[in-house]
Amino acid sequence: MTKNNPQQTALAMPAQNGQPVLHPDRPLSRGAKCSRCRAQAEIHLPSHHANFCPDCFLHFVRTAVVRGLKEMKFRPRPLLVAVSGGKDSLAVWDLLHYLGYETKGLHINLGIPDFSEASSRAVAAFASVRDLDWAEYSLQEVFGYSIPQVQRLLRGKTCSLCGQLKRALCNRLTIKEGFDTLVTGHNLDDEASRLLGNLVGKRLEHVHKQYPYLPSPHPRIPAKLKPLYRLEIKELLAYCQLRAITPVQETCSFARGATSRTFLQALEFLEGSMPGTKRSFLFAYLRDTKLKEQLGSWLDTHEQEEPSAEPEPKDGYGMCQECREPAYGQRCGICKLRERLQKKERIAPA
Ligand code: AMP
Ligand code: FES
Ligand code: ZN
Repeated sequence: MTKNNPQQTALAMPAQNGQPVLHPDRPLSRGAKCSRCRAQAEIHLPSHHANFCPDCFLHFVRTAVVRGLKEMKFRPRPLLVAVSGGKDSLAVWDLLHYLGYETKGLHINLGIPDFSEASSRAVAAFASVRDLDWAEYSLQEVFGYSIPQVQRLLRGKTCSLCGQLKRALCNRLTIKEGFDTLVTGHNLDDEASRLLGNLVGKRLEHVHKQYPYLPSPHPRIPAKLKPLYRLEIKELLAYCQLRAITPVQETCSFARGATSRTFLQALEFLEGSMPGTKRSFLFAYLRDTKLKEQLGSWLDTHEQEEPSAEPEPKDGYGMCQECREPAYGQRCGICKLRERLQKKERIAPA
């Protein structure tokens, strides 16, 4: 494996002698000391210039979440956690539960053969061991079409349509489940590569919306929380290993377009020679005072409100004439997409 191989971050070595090894190309020597307790270190984190024993590593991960929540001035409340069955969302659910938050899981079954069954099983197994409550919704039932049907009818951009559907439906289902805050498992790598993409594409207006806590902009849209924004993929893989969390192994057959992965690879290349670059790049923007001011005025106009049964148009939002959910035009994106699919289906029935 080369130093800058981006795959490196996606690989966690299987536990050796029951211990995780984070950097297989640079195993820690016997005698390497934990930066916190001076016991034998097992985990090397070059971006923090630190080595940790397993217990202190868990402490490090939990502290990163606690610190992040504190920095966001997040007031504790019951949280609905969007869980895909992957490592990030299971890790964030585990962490919030451990930290004493009241949580419920939300899983959307996309109807993708093998992958969706396996994802659902991973969530069920995780929740049952910890006795956690969760709800599963089928995309086919709540939207009318599964992802393979979307692919058959619209071809091309399945992954981005799937992302759009998941985002909109997670919002609606959060309110339906009686919560006002939706947690997702986005990590530091997701956020840094998205930031790079926004800067390269000069989508500066999107940058302030990358803040890891966004209050609710409308009574029918929940606040969004990303507690893992300070943690990297490889740290979350090690966390899952240490906490005996088994994420779904199958991958989605509708592979994602290369763009976000390419931006992450670019960052990994820099990280390989300059550990910590990814982190300092993201944090420089999140801490930018001008950005915070911009966000501040945005936050001021989007005060937290309790979800109400009757949607009320607000701040540029109208109401979808079909489903009565918030919409920018006459109809929401979900109803528009459903109509496109219905039209295609009339032309090319299954
Ligand atoms: P992704 O866009 O697939 O990287 O997912 C980002 C986040 O969205 C995950 O960390 C989860 O919190 C959430 N998510 C993704 N897929 C699902 C799903 N099928 N059901 C519920 N939440 C999901
Ligand atoms: Fe949505 Fe793959 S998970 S298309
Ligand atoms: Zn609608």
